[in-house]
Amino acid sequence: MPARPAAGPDPATGAEARHFGDVRGISPPSVPGRETGPGVLVIVAPVNAPTSLSIDLGDRSYPIHIGAGLLAQPALLEAALPHGPLLVVTNTTVAPLYLPRLRAAFGARRLAECVLPDGERYKTLATLAQVYDSLAAARVNRDGAVLALGGGVVGDIAGFAAATWQRGVAIAQLPTTLLAQVDSSVGGKTAVNHPAGKNLIGAFHQPGAVVADLDTLDTLPDRELRAGLAEVIKYGLIGDVEFLGWLEAAMPKLLARDREALAFAIERSCRNKARLVALDERESGPRALLNLGHTFGHAIEAAAGYGEWLHGEAVALGTVMAAETSARLGWLGAADVARVRRVLASAGLPVAAPRIGVARAHELMALDKKVQGGRVRLVLLKSLGEAVVTGDYDPAALEAVLAAEVG
Ligand SMILES: NC(=O)c1ccc[n+]([C@@H]2O[C@H](COP(=O)([O-])OP(=O)(O)OC[C@H]3O[C@@H](n4cnc5c(N)ncnc54)[C@H](O)[C@@H]3O)[C@@H](O)[C@H]2O)c1
Repeated sequence: MPARPAAGPDPATGAEARHFGDVRGISPPSVPGRETGPGVLVIVAPVNAPTSLSIDLGDRSYPIHIGAGLLAQPALLEAALPHGPLLVVTNTTVAPLYLPRLRAAFGARRLAECVLPDGERYKTLATLAQVYDSLAAARVNRDGAVLALGGGVVGDIAGFAAATWQRGVAIAQLPTTLLAQVDSSVGGKTAVNHPAGKNLIGAFHQPGAVVADLDTLDTLPDRELRAGLAEVIKYGLIGDVEFLGWLEAAMPKLLARDREALAFAIERSCRNKARLVALDERESGPRALLNLGHTFGHAIEAAAGYGEWLHGEAVALGTVMAAETSARLGWLGAADVARVRRVLASAGLPVAAPRIGVARAHELMALDKKVQGGRVRLVLLKSLGEAVVTGDYDPAALEAVLAAEVG
């Protein structure tokens, strides 16, 4: 079968897909780009050429570039940002690894730098104040921009700083973790934590561009790579069962950091996210499906103390609990739940939650932003590949799952 010319907008999202053919017919055991034939995905360009998708939000649409060596291509950013002062926000781990590359790429154009302490426990108002101080010192006005170089923590803090500094300045996201490349850098959600809960202080603020350099994943610790896979698996579970099948087969390659497999997983994840964000930018409807496992997961993260469980690990535990609740409601069968546990475990993710206690779990889940009228709304699975957000479930099912999983 000839390779379909892969230019043109995705019919579902309007996103530009330059390198992939028809993704519907992907056959689960194949790694893309290797085979041709009916129903098999074909990659037209070599994997190290950047792939560009677009988030379709009218006049606030922006590109996501995915590929190797992209931190050395400032043109991708310059095309999308104003030409005034630039502040790079990064952290003490990422700065020595990737800041020199970025500095060299920008050459004569000076980058001001703000290097934050590393860790979820620093995703606070106090750290945010450090970013504001740097913005003031660098004289970043509305003609300037922020570059967020790092994982989801840096991206969320820098994003919130950009959303609020002078009522909003431009930002580009340069995600360096798998989690940030498939999820947090895309879609414009920004936040810092409050002692009362995670991400409670935040804003929607879309970036001007997302540039995901695959080279940065080379230095990512294995545990962080696995945590990112939790969010990748999420896309399969909530709306892309073909991708779930592909992930099950490709997991060894993903864990071995096979470039082609990672590039495909990132692009497919971003396509799924782009579709939901374009449908529902401010999360009043289907975008909330992206929170599968998060209500349970946030409770576990908060109960254990931020930093004990990685965000992706907590999401994996929460995903198991969502699947178990869905089974108690008669929506998933035992084999489906076993499949959810198996794919998460195959990514090296935890599937047995810590015993934080039912009362504490309730207390923390009640702080979730999805609580409406005193009822915790949950993302549950009607089937594998079909999720719903609902407060209309039998509370006994939730009780039983909490007792079994965290009691
Ligand atoms: N805004 C959103 O839509 C959204 C979505 C999902 C998650 N999040 C947030 O994202 C955060 C989690 O993000 P994360 O998993 O990227 O964690 P993170 O930002 O803490 O990064 C994980 C660790 O990897 C290090 N690191 C980053 N890039 C590296 C690299 N290339 N090489 C070596 N080390 C590197 C970091 O310094 C950190 O120690 C959470 O705060 C979560 O709430 C936000």
